[in-house]
Amino acid sequence: MKKSIKQLSSILKENPNSKVIFMVGAGISTSCGIPDFRSPKTGLYHNLSKLNLPYAEAVFDIDFFKNNPVPFYILAKELYPGNFKPSKFHYFMKLMEDKNRLHRVYTQNIDTLEREAGISGEKIIEAHGSFASNHCINCNERYELEIFKEKVTNFEEGPGKHDFAKCRKCVDGLIKPNIVFFGENLPSSFFTSLDYDRKLLEKNSDDYIVIFAGTSLAVYPFCSSAAAVPEMATRSLVNKELVGNFKKEPRDSDIVILENCDSVVEELARELGWLEDLEKLISG
Ligand code: OAD
Repeated sequence: MKKSIKQLSSILKENPNSKVIFMVGAGISTSCGIPDFRSPKTGLYHNLSKLNLPYAEAVFDIDFFKNNPVPFYILAKELYPGNFKPSKFHYFMKLMEDKNRLHRVYTQNIDTLEREAGISGEKIIEAHGSFASNHCINCNERYELEIFKEKVTNFEEGPGKHDFAKCRKCVDGLIKPNIVFFGENLPSSFFTSLDYDRKLLEKNSDDYIVIFAGTSLAVYPFCSSAAAVPEMATRSLVNKELVGNFKKEPRDSDIVILENCDSVVEELARELGWLEDLEKLISG
């Protein structure tokens, strides 16, 4: 077993009251069959050429969406929650909650698999929003999940076929899920929780471990949370590659595990004596 996994499990064992803050991204859902964004060849941005985008990230650009919602509809149809089951990593986070060791999960993912795994809503910060609610991008009128879901699940490509969810109040406004696009603000809960947790970590650095997993730490402001972890606290990176602040400003205390995140949590669960509990959670 990797020394770094042993290190992480030792810290968790040595302080049985310590809690974990997870900061996660698309890499924790790739084993569920959902591609991440930036992995070469398999990432969504590599495979968007069929959508005729001026640049890959335009699919999540609010100005682009206003003029041409088609690429987002095609992508959203493919990614729409309900078609996927949580990964081992998601269930490990749930297990941490069951063991009273989970402080919070900050996720950039819009797949809602943290909720699906059973993690309590109040512990989850969906930093980039989710499909759970919608609004009109013109007049801001709020809409429930169904209106966009119905249009996106029945969406068909081709001239004359496009049928977008439109606002009933201002008539012409496009309805869009509350997923944070480039050019939009993150939910205020992201900033308030991050600020609260940073202060908590400054005061009680031995009682918290921050684990970043399955993220390229390429998108602002989420990526800035790695540098914001106080120096006294322990940060860990569980990812296939070395990224972000772990690469730019490595700290001696960092625990870096460059492996598949599902295999890492399996090893961790074994080390902690929780493997059976993890398997039970997964099998339901
Ligand atoms: P990325 O695709 O940028 O990064 C995923 C990271 O996970 C990469 O570093 C991969 O190497 C790693 N990875 C993939 N599978 C893995 C596995 N099984 N085990 C361990 N590591 C693995 O995804 P994010 O960082 O989440 O915005 O992207 C951030 C944001 O960019 C997304 O939220 C999205 C996108 O624009 C919106 O949807 C609004």
